[in-house]
Amino acid sequence: MIIAIDGPAASGKGTLARLLAAHFGLPHLDTGLLYRATACALLDEGRPLDDVAAAVAAARGLALRHFDDTRLRTREMGEAASLVAAMPDVRAALIDLQRGFASRPEGAVLDGRDIGTVICPDAPVKIFVTASAETRARRRALELAARGENADYAGILADVRRRDERDSARSFAPLQAAQDAFMLDTTDLDIEQAFRAALEAVERKLALARKLG
Ligand code: CDP
Repeated sequence: MIIAIDGPAASGKGTLARLLAAHFGLPHLDTGLLYRATACALLDEGRPLDDVAAAVAAARGLALRHFDDTRLRTREMGEAASLVAAMPDVRAALIDLQRGFASRPEGAVLDGRDIGTVICPDAPVKIFVTASAETRARRRALELAARGENADYAGILADVRRRDERDSARSFAPLQAAQDAFMLDTTDLDIEQAFRAALEAVERKLALARKLG
């Protein structure tokens, strides 16, 4: 079973993906990390973030490098990731890796921006996770503060809005819900409630598939 989870920055899709993967015993791929790692490799090589050829080479060479997870999850890397993620050639360079992960016999949970629309358009379960920009910025500020990073709320809210705008406006694989996605607004839900709602959506889909199939 493939579960495709998409949504804007800090919507909680990563947490939900992790919890669903653990619940169903499936492997999980946080595809945002691929774009963060591509940007990180580029910065480490001293290249500008608009160098398309170097970004594509970095994306193709990801498997050969080691990345520090804490560094990948910084604000700086989130912003840099959304710049390289807008390059169609970088996205193309990362497609096989993502589809390869999704094609494991047992299935997989993938989260990102274009999983239900581009990477796994035939996934039987798609969830699009949203929350108000203010709620998302508050959650991200708490997350960053817990890691000892600069967590000024106003700056993070501006980051989140800028990234949403860039991710939604790009012409190639923009952030958007697949037509058959279950829409999950987590603005007023805690993690436990959001997980239960997502799990119910998955189980409804599975029951329907059993009935039809
Ligand atoms: O955790 P957060 O939602 O802040 O970000 P992320 O999922 O790690 O993604 C970082 C950036 O990578 C996003 O702003 C997108 O520009 C890009 N991304 C993408 O374009 N497609 C994906 N499947 C995943 C991430």
